[in-house]
Amino acid sequence: MKVAVIGAGVMGSGIASAIVLGGHEAIVYDIVPEVLRNSEKLIGSLIREMKGNSDGELGEFHVESSLNEAVKGADIVLEVIIEDLNAKRELYEQLTTYIGQDVPVASNTSTFTVEQLSKDLKIQDRILIAHWVNPPYVIPLVEIARAPWTSEWAVNKITGFLKELGKEPVIVPDIPGLIVNRFNSAVYREALRLVANYNIDPQTIDLVWKKHLAVIFSVTGVLGTMDYVGLDTIVRAASSLSSPSQDEDVKAASLIIDKVSRGELGVKSGLGFYPYSGSDRLSLELSRAHSIRGVLKCLEDVS
Ligand SMILES: NC(=O)c1ccc[n+]([C@@H]2O[C@H](COP(=O)([O-])OP(=O)(O)OC[C@H]3O[C@@H](n4cnc5c(N)ncnc54)[C@H](O)[C@@H]3O)[C@@H](O)[C@H]2O)c1
Repeated sequence: MKVAVIGAGVMGSGIASAIVLGGHEAIVYDIVPEVLRNSEKLIGSLIREMKGNSDGELGEFHVESSLNEAVKGADIVLEVIIEDLNAKRELYEQLTTYIGQDVPVASNTSTFTVEQLSKDLKIQDRILIAHWVNPPYVIPLVEIARAPWTSEWAVNKITGFLKELGKEPVIVPDIPGLIVNRFNSAVYREALRLVANYNIDPQTIDLVWKKHLAVIFSVTGVLGTMDYVGLDTIVRAASSLSSPSQDEDVKAASLIIDKVSRGELGVKSGLGFYPYSGSDRLSLELSRAHSIRGVLKCLEDVS
C-alpha cells in the first residue's frame, strides 16, 4: 500500500516509521520545510534502529514538499497535523480535489469526533479516526471511530491495512477523547492535583504507578481489576472518597451499586463485570499472581 502521511511531527514521523517497518510505502508531507527535513532524518534513524540494521535498506519512504504530490496515487491518507479543528477541516477540503474516490482519510485526532471533523464536507463519507498512540511504531493499539455517514468500505480499508501492519484496531464510539484520552485526562488530572494540592513529588507518584497500578492494570484491565477487588468494597471505598456531583457520575455510581445489590461482587461471587463461574477462586488467584510476576519480571528487565 502507498500511504500519504500528512503532518511530520512527533506522531507523523512515528506512524510513517511503522508503515515502512511493516513493509509498505510512506510519503510524508508537512507545511514546515524544516520539520520535514528533521522528520526525514528521524524516520531513517528509527527504521535503522528498529531493524537493528545500521547501513541496510531503509524500505520505501520519502518526504514531499507539495501536498498534491504527496497524496498523488496514495491508497490511504493519514492526517496527523496539529490538533486544530479548522486546520484539519481545511486540509480535507483541499484533499477533495487531489485524492481518488476510493481513498479513505483517517485522522489521528486526540480530542475531536468524526462528526466534528467531517460534517458537511464533500468527502465526509471517507473521513474517519484512526487514533495511533505514542510510540506508534511499537504500541499495537489503534482506536477506530466513525460517524453515522462514514462508508463501510473506508472503515474496512483502514482496519484491514492496520491488521496487515500487525496493529490491533479497536472500534470505539465517536466520543471526544475516544477511550485512551478519556483515561489519560483522568489520570493526568489526578496526578496534577496530587502535586499541586498535596505537594507530592513526581517521583513518588510515578513510583506508585510503576510498582503497582500499571502492573495490575496491564494484567486484568480496569474493570477486571475491580472484579478482583470486590465491587462491594469499591462502593464502600468510593462513598468515603467522593460523592457523585454530576449526572454522568451518578449514572456511573448506580451501575456498580446495582451490580452489588444483585450480588454481582466480582471474583468473590463468581460474577462481576466478567463471569468467573467456570474456575475456582484459588486457580483464578494463582493465574493472576503468575501473570503479575511475569509483568514485574519484564519491567525489571527493561528498567
Ligand atoms: N503527541 C502524541 O503523543 C499524540 C498521540 C496521539 C495522537 N496525537 C494527535 O496527533 C496529531 C499530531 O500530533 P503531534 O504530537 O504529532 O503534533 P506535532 O506538533 O508534533 O506535529 C504536527 C505537525 O503538523 C504540521 N501541520 C500543521 N498544519 C498542517 C497542514 N495544514 N498540513 C500539513 N502539516 C501541517 C505542523 O507543522 C507540525 O509539524 C494531533 O491531532 C494530536 O492530537 C498526538
